[in-house]
Amino acid sequence: MNGAEIQSIKDLAKARKAVILAHNYQPPDIQDLADLCGDSLELSRKAAQTDAEVIVFCGVHFMAETASILSPEKTVLLPRMDAGCLMSDMITAEALQMKIAALPPMPVVTYVNSTADVKALSTICCTSANVIQVVNSLAADEMLLTPDRNLAMYAASRTRKKIHIWEGCCPTHERLTSEDVRKARAEHPQAVFIAHPECRPEVLAIADVIASTSGMLRHAAQSKQKEFIIGTEQGLLYPLGKANPDKRFYPASPKMICKNMKKIQPADVLRCLQTMTGEVKVPEEIRVPAFKAVEKMIQLKI
Ligand code: 13P
Ligand code: SF4
Repeated sequence: MNGAEIQSIKDLAKARKAVILAHNYQPPDIQDLADLCGDSLELSRKAAQTDAEVIVFCGVHFMAETASILSPEKTVLLPRMDAGCLMSDMITAEALQMKIAALPPMPVVTYVNSTADVKALSTICCTSANVIQVVNSLAADEMLLTPDRNLAMYAASRTRKKIHIWEGCCPTHERLTSEDVRKARAEHPQAVFIAHPECRPEVLAIADVIASTSGMLRHAAQSKQKEFIIGTEQGLLYPLGKANPDKRFYPASPKMICKNMKKIQPADVLRCLQTMTGEVKVPEEIRVPAFKAVEKMIQLKI
């Protein structure tokens, strides 16, 4: 897509009173045309605060749902309806209901990487940036954390509370092994290894820094170090390189690509703005309880 076509997306977005949000893993040309890029927490906050009438969400389906949960009066468009999340598919409302019935009464903390109907059954949501603070904010000493077992084990290792685990994971982060990290370190001995909390516990155990995608961006910008091995989806290498031209970033493994995060192309954004198709709308009976769980997290201001 050339400069004129990009400009026509921007003009159309303005005419539609639309804001374009993009997750940090999106392809470079999508990040370049977005009004705002960020991690899941920043994007959910931005979706709640914007006075735009339309949100074009360049991410995956659960992210557009979260925007709809927070802004029911706005039209939320997902440029590719088939952009899903394999982790969010690893839990259903029915399965969670059965698990809740089998456990003694306790709060349910649900990662935002989940469907609206799973959020609706949860006490509070969390993101990779705030999971420990969310867990510690609850009065209960015991809780169920869904759907990411790696995020749950990470939280369990940093709190005194008892965390019950749901056996889900992000296949993209699960693919990274400690052997991959050792190889990357041997190739780049000066580099700092930064890992996302969705990685396996043995990978987190050898990380120098653990952070969400925007946490990684902040860390790299502030650090005096010049080289970094990045343990998350490879899309993050683009904003890291753009913001830090004097620093070097290496993927921890070439396997860390989420196909769903690569589906949206500029032509999809143009088409959805032209036709106003691809709306994601959460029904009120799901939205209201899901809103309570997301809002409880946002109100913590962490
Ligand atoms: P964050 O951007 O919140 O770190 O999330 C990572 C992720 O896997 C989103 O799909
Ligand atoms: Fe889901 Fe993992 Fe892809 Fe994020 S990177 S959208 S958690 S599958």
